[in-house]
Amino acid sequence: MEDADGSPGNINRTSSSSSAPSLSISWVHCVPNMGENVPSVVLSSGWKMPMVALGTTTEPLPPPQVLTSTYLTAIEVGYRHFDTAALYNTEEPLGHAVAEALRRGLVCTRDDLFITSKLWCTDAHPDLVIPALKNTLRKLGLGYVDLYLIHSPTRLKKGEMVYPFNKEDILPFDMRGTWEAMEECSRLGLAKSIGVSNFDCEKLSQLLAHATIPPAVNQVKVNASWQERKLIEFCKEKGIHVCAWSPLGANGSWWGSNSVMNSPILNDIALAKGKTIAQVALRWIYEQGATAVVKSFNEGRMKENLQIFGWELSGEELNKISQSPQSRVFGSGKSFSLAKFLDWTNYPKRSLVELNVAWQQKKLIDFCKENGIHLCAWSPLGAYGTLRGSNAVALRWIYEQGVSVVVKSFNKGRMKENIQIFGWELSGEELNKISQILQQRVFPAEELFVSAKGPYKSLDELWDGEI
Ligand SMILES: NC(=O)c1ccc[n+]([C@@H]2O[C@H](COP(=O)([O-])OP(=O)(O)OC[C@H]3O[C@@H](n4cnc5c(N)ncnc54)[C@H](OP(=O)(O)O)[C@@H]3O)[C@@H](O)[C@H]2O)c1
Repeated sequence: MEDADGSPGNINRTSSSSSAPSLSISWVHCVPNMGENVPSVVLSSGWKMPMVALGTTTEPLPPPQVLTSTYLTAIEVGYRHFDTAALYNTEEPLGHAVAEALRRGLVCTRDDLFITSKLWCTDAHPDLVIPALKNTLRKLGLGYVDLYLIHSPTRLKKGEMVYPFNKEDILPFDMRGTWEAMEECSRLGLAKSIGVSNFDCEKLSQLLAHATIPPAVNQVKVNASWQERKLIEFCKEKGIHVCAWSPLGANGSWWGSNSVMNSPILNDIALAKGKTIAQVALRWIYEQGATAVVKSFNEGRMKENLQIFGWELSGEELNKISQSPQSRVFGSGKSFSLAKFLDWTNYPKRSLVELNVAWQQKKLIDFCKENGIHLCAWSPLGAYGTLRGSNAVALRWIYEQGVSVVVKSFNKGRMKENIQIFGWELSGEELNKISQILQQRVFPAEELFVSAKGPYKSLDELWDGEI
């Protein structure tokens, strides 16, 4: 697949030109456009977008000056598309990098760069959308963004941006009103293209039903371990371009896993092709017709992540990747406090948590039932043999909660025993007795998940008040 109109990645419109202000500084001596080896896609809005973006955020976030110099390095090595958001606190450092790149002549005009930003949920109120974008533009020091996305189909109470947010702050999402305001941003020339993020097929259908300007992009989590085939197919049909966040599985972060970077399938392909696992993972995204939004703050890896063009994956390799085990793990912490993620359309349909008679997680079970999330129980026997002697009863109890059992035994006799849990049931009295078992969680999760900067600030938050 190459650039849709056959030309390299200069970012200009294929039809009419923008009336939005531009930061072009014509007197600076410009170096050739180093972004030209990255193909671009023509969005439904008519604007061109480079098909690799640099993700600008991570946790913990480095100081602003470090971020600015990191983004400048990215521009130097060839990135022309940057993904920021009001939530990330990276708009200002990115704006400084853009201004400095222009000053140094690393790019000739503002138009050589493609800047994406996002509307946070506290501003997903029709009257707040334009002010929020103007605030974003002020922080970026720009007259327009190339792409403005609704960060999530979620509305939170007006106020301070916080993440993870509290369940009590969630309001019904006003899809129509919010999108109308996004359309106004486009008409005013404040955003060249508009789109959404974290929308599933159903939410996209609802949006398309009343949109005057269809969303040009849907930015969602896509990688070899979470392939979102149905969603990608749907977006193709509707002319919505997919941008893939966490394309490397966000390895090393609390919201990610090593499933992509440790994939034996990708590793074999990488070895055979003389590429790195990251390059194979990113090339796979490109071959799905999607744009990878990849974060690296390391110059060597930034370069490596751009070297995914001029070679391709064979049909056999694509077929192997399509068989990668799929897991939509949004950080281990998520399984403990799903309430925080209510109304995120791509929250997991399945969640694996510690669950056994001595750690019954009643609130979590009820929450998952209500929200159509199937639970699987790890440590169903309490992991350290604490419940031994009553295995069948303990496992049957899990089954009767509507939860799948993930039990380990390497002993043939016990393997057999552990599946003898069907064809009989626990009486009401027995269930009642079990409900009175002293509750004591085995896995020392606190150390891993509770910290001032982590997803959960206190034990109470981690356990949704269930401790
Ligand atoms: N719309 C949304 O809701 C949403 C959600 C999450 C993220 N995003 C966007 O997507 C961007 C990227 O997602 P992400 O950070 O979650 O995941 P990611 O890009 O899949 O993974 C980033 C991690 O991979 C490492 N890495 C990068 N290149 C590598 C390579 N060649 N080899 C080995 N490791 C490599 C990075 O470390 P180094 O920096 O040390 O290289 C970093 O730890 C974010 O920055 C953000 O802009 C959007």
